[in-house]
Amino acid sequence: MQQSSICYLNGDFLPLEEARVSVLDRGFIFGDGIYEMIPAFSGHAFRLQEHLQRLQNSLDAVHIRNPHSLEEWSQLIHAVIEKNRTGHQAIYLQVTRGVAHRDHAFPDVSEPTVFIMSNPLPVSREVKPVSATILEDPRWNNCDIKAISLLPNVLLRQKARERGAYEAILIRDGLLTEGAASNVFIVRDGIVRTSPKDSRILPGITRDLIVELLHKHEIPCEEREITEADVRAADEIWLTSSTREIVPVTQLDGVPVGTGELGPVWRQTVELYQSFKDTFTGAEAA
Ligand SMILES: Cc1ncc(COP(=O)(O)O)c(C=O)c1O
Repeated sequence: MQQSSICYLNGDFLPLEEARVSVLDRGFIFGDGIYEMIPAFSGHAFRLQEHLQRLQNSLDAVHIRNPHSLEEWSQLIHAVIEKNRTGHQAIYLQVTRGVAHRDHAFPDVSEPTVFIMSNPLPVSREVKPVSATILEDPRWNNCDIKAISLLPNVLLRQKARERGAYEAILIRDGLLTEGAASNVFIVRDGIVRTSPKDSRILPGITRDLIVELLHKHEIPCEEREITEADVRAADEIWLTSSTREIVPVTQLDGVPVGTGELGPVWRQTVELYQSFKDTFTGAEAA
């Protein structure tokens, strides 16, 4: 029988299937909470400081008190990693406003609910190009908050799947925002472009690292608005996220992207990303 994974819930480490929260938890009732997804390679949480800063930003934006210091978060996360020591892991953490009688306004007193779990993160260097479809972005104007209320993203991803595509690439007012669960990069004439960071997109940790690496290695990269026409005319399209890293899109709405083959700038960027990861020793995992 497969061994159960160990999670953390409000002060205790326990098998995942034994973890329980109240039905009055505001995360369950209202989707009133935020989350993070942090990859851990060989026991070390990758870009931990950046993830914990984004966690703080999300908590501040929704006025949930951060129940832990950076040091405490780091210890809790590494304790979960340690207890599930099986190769690479995807660490999911969630903080909700806690348990209270149902009323939309914030409760006078509530303790945030804190939950951390680990899932195996299959990391393979085998390339799996994907297809994508363009959909209208119907979400709210606070997409920079990593909120657990993901119903629009769930419906968008499902609609993409029903169209036979892996990901939905979202357009709002004629402009590219992001994917249902990823950021989007395009390449045209050797120039890499991604949407600017504002309330229409999640400031992806992978996105930021790619922008940083491209600048460092003097590969032209622009953070500026991208039209739907730009996306459809791109030579390359990539989807980025902490768990899937840099995924090439070779078909968009049934039409080949560029040549329909893996792009040269994608190859170069993946190499930069992989060598950055290879030099990652956990030193930044304070
Ligand atoms: C809507 C959305 N945008 C972007 C991303 C990528 O963010 P990160 O690189 O931090 O995983 C995600 C990740 O899940 C996401 O859900």
